[in-house]
Amino acid sequence: MRRFSERVESLPPYLFAEIERKVAAKRAAGVDIISLGIGDPDTPTPAHIVAALAEAAKDPATHQYPSNQGSRPFREAVAGYYRRRFGVSLDPEREINAVLGAKEAIAHICLCLLDRSDVCLASDPGYPVYVAGPLLADGHAVRLPLVPELGFQPDLEAIEPAALTRAKMVFVGYPNNPTGAVIEDDFFARLVAFAKEHDLAVVHDNAYADITYDGYVAPSFLETPGAKDVGVEVFSLSKSYNMTGWRSGAIVGNAELIEAFWRLKTNMDSGMFEAVQRASAAALDGPQDGVAALRALYQRRRDLLVGALRAIGLAASPPKGTIYLWVPVPTGHTSASFTAQILEQADVIVSPGAAYGPSGEGYVRFSLTLPDERLREAVRRIEERVEL
Ligand SMILES: Cc1ncc(COP(=O)(O)O)c(C=O)c1O
Repeated sequence: MRRFSERVESLPPYLFAEIERKVAAKRAAGVDIISLGIGDPDTPTPAHIVAALAEAAKDPATHQYPSNQGSRPFREAVAGYYRRRFGVSLDPEREINAVLGAKEAIAHICLCLLDRSDVCLASDPGYPVYVAGPLLADGHAVRLPLVPELGFQPDLEAIEPAALTRAKMVFVGYPNNPTGAVIEDDFFARLVAFAKEHDLAVVHDNAYADITYDGYVAPSFLETPGAKDVGVEVFSLSKSYNMTGWRSGAIVGNAELIEAFWRLKTNMDSGMFEAVQRASAAALDGPQDGVAALRALYQRRRDLLVGALRAIGLAASPPKGTIYLWVPVPTGHTSASFTAQILEQADVIVSPGAAYGPSGEGYVRFSLTLPDERLREAVRRIEERVEL
């Protein structure tokens, strides 16, 4: 085969490849593996959303190419949700574009903002596409370490001047995957001021907007005065409505950036299946009790898992958001060695922190997307079979 593009060759190695190989071998040997590695909700999409899809799919008008911008009713549903949920007013014509999940938006926005050798400042640890997206746009990511001492917020003052000069954009996201951190201070206001000073576009990833605990309500970045001047927010239906397989979300905010995104996207794909757009509108406009039930479910699992992990000596603490626990590994381990050991000895999968960037070293991520009994069983196996 001929050589592939530098762009593709430059993508970081897939860090789960080795884990997947071991898992496949164990499963082939009939071993029962408990996977707390992936953040994919285990409960179904609420029935009224599925019914809306089924109904929409019967209408032949949904079978043709959809609008790339998203249908007007879909964009109005997003605007209505932002108004009710965040008190943020969005113009459905200029400030909203449908996306095929947050991931699509995160990857493609880099192509709108970066030229060769440009820099994207990216939270570290962070969602892996914050690094891969810039590479695919022939730029590169400069990582912003998130450390517990600063509440897993980047230290904006510590960014190297040379990187800042070349930086065109920054990726942040709260509630934060993988650390579970949330914003409870003026970080977004400081970020807006910083972005204005350095002429940066902010991309705020709000994929976990509604998955929060202990009464904490997560803000939109766009609530911050001046935010629309400097950036956009990526919003997803995946986690709030258990719709990861549906590929539905929106990019919202700065009108010029949304227009550039739309221009790019019209050359990349042909938009979101109209029936999925109608069902998404039903999700956003309809009853929100499913989201509340999901918060209660994950909060219960969070408390169960934190308690069980602490009881076996791991320093787990309860996050206020996301579907993950970010847990320091025992002394003497790296994130990869601890992950490998518990897979080997306990048949339990967690994600090694280093897979989310160098600042993730020293941690593993446990996902809350399994029933109570499987969570208990996972910890029981670690306790019984692994020497911590
Ligand atoms: C931080 C973060 N952003 C974006 C995504 C992608 O979400 P979507 O399913 O909307 O593409 C995920 C998925 O896990 C995520 O954790």
